[in-house]
Amino acid sequence: MTTEIEKELETSEAVLEKRRNFAIISHPDAGKTTLTEKLLLYGGAIHQAGAVKARRDQRKATSDWMEMEKQRGISITSTVLQFDYRDFQINLLDTPGHQDFSEDTYRTLAAADNAVMLIDAAKGLEPQTRKLFEVCKLRQLPIFTFVNKMDRPGREPLDLLDEIERELGLQTYPVNWPIGIGDRFRGVFDRATQTIHLFERRSHGSQEAQETVIELGDPKIEDYLEKDLYYQLKEDIELLSELGAELDLPAVHAGEMTPIFFGSAMTNFGVKLFLESFLDYGLPPRGRNSSLGVLDPTYPDFTGFVFKLQANMDPKHRDRVAFVRVCTGKFEKDMVVNHARTGKTIRLSRPQKLFAQDRAVIEEAYPGDVIGLNNPGVFAIGDTIYMGKKLEYEGIPCFSPELFAYLRNPNPSKFKQFQKGVSELQEEGAVQILSSIDEFKRDPILAAVGQLQFEVVQFRLLSEYGVETTLEPLAYSLARWVAGGWAALEKAGKLFNTLTVKDYWGRPVLLFKNEWNLQQVKEDHPSLQLNSIAPVG
Ligand code: G4P
Repeated sequence: MTTEIEKELETSEAVLEKRRNFAIISHPDAGKTTLTEKLLLYGGAIHQAGAVKARRDQRKATSDWMEMEKQRGISITSTVLQFDYRDFQINLLDTPGHQDFSEDTYRTLAAADNAVMLIDAAKGLEPQTRKLFEVCKLRQLPIFTFVNKMDRPGREPLDLLDEIERELGLQTYPVNWPIGIGDRFRGVFDRATQTIHLFERRSHGSQEAQETVIELGDPKIEDYLEKDLYYQLKEDIELLSELGAELDLPAVHAGEMTPIFFGSAMTNFGVKLFLESFLDYGLPPRGRNSSLGVLDPTYPDFTGFVFKLQANMDPKHRDRVAFVRVCTGKFEKDMVVNHARTGKTIRLSRPQKLFAQDRAVIEEAYPGDVIGLNNPGVFAIGDTIYMGKKLEYEGIPCFSPELFAYLRNPNPSKFKQFQKGVSELQEEGAVQILSSIDEFKRDPILAAVGQLQFEVVQFRLLSEYGVETTLEPLAYSLARWVAGGWAALEKAGKLFNTLTVKDYWGRPVLLFKNEWNLQQVKEDHPSLQLNSIAPVG
């Protein structure tokens, strides 16, 4: 007879098996908004698709966007889109479209189990994609590649595969293969089923694409496909089989091999095939490193961690929402949990689903889900909450900022508010704070990935803490943490063209004006290990 505990375990395993969670990494304009919208369409959440586009339009007009965000008190930069497809529950951890908030994207990747790398067929790998890929690599996230905009003239598919292999060091496995490109893009060949999926072109693909599926050897093929495209496809198929790679799922799950899909999000070609395969091959919620070792998602007690804080999502209530990734156990509304950093207990009374601008109270959530908690001032990025045995998840690392400026408070009577604001904004992850090692230079150094982060900090210091500040930019563009800390730095001796500063935890950070200076220091001091990503604390 099955015991209650066994039954519960079976249920939780079944729940996990049917959950997938992912984030999209791409360079602006590759089609992230469009693909997101189309995925929602298949997930039956079409009424929300407009919301996605509206957000994209907000972002496109940066200055208007900023003005609007300022008026309402900043800032909708990302949400979580939850939808069902087949009997799967899918969480898309949406990331800010604007490049200046990519620090948020880095952190969101810390909460994702899979990444979808979206690339523009004409452009191939672009800078933002490469940067985000580095973060995925660090976490060994499985990466699914969608080559978009096949309806437009683009690069040779093999050339794109080669670029991914060479530059990212990922093995590639094309799950499907494009038939034609640009005006002559007719569909894709699905290698697993050896079938041809031909699509009917519709303007902007506002509905699910109509597709005809035929076997490779079907004589009817000539009615559907021009001869030259058919012969080209046969040649390509032969070539692919000569290349010989097999789809190796353990390698995919370890982030060593990427399954590749071709399509066009705008016309809705290949999106469904992609979604289906992603559900089959993607990783269900997986274990995470904690102070108790790797904690499997089937661990019975509820645990989770904060990967993002967002201020003032609701203009009517000046609030701060903590995005919590559920890691284990079942989350229930009104639960009283432990907060690892402070040792306090907290009632989670208004948990929210974070779907675009809509927010609904949720009653329960499972591993892989994200919930929004509204407990002002309690949470910082990386905080763990748990039931049962005390534990803490590995923190979310710091990523190399690219812009630096002294932040000054010209009004001494506002000193306290200034200090409080700066430290709260740092905890929230709005910006990183560095400081000079010269004790006479007390002004904090703001370190950000994008200029808008500075604007947000100054704006919020004024509107929430009543402090007017000024910025003095520093002419540096790269930061590296020194492995081995101060001792290693001292041992290395004098470094040229760098500025040494401290991070929030007192660790040495070197600032460089440009890549060339960094390379120079590396060559002059080969034993010095410099990292672009550092663990918390
Ligand atoms: P992003 O979120 O990654 O920045 O990209 P987004 O989806 O906003 O797409 C950027 C532009 O590329 C949009 O054009 C979009 O329509 C177009 N696009 C996306 N996917 C495809 C595709 O598969 N094929 C083609 N041909 N175009 C695609 P736009 O002119 O900026 O906007 P819109 O007026 O079309 O909405």
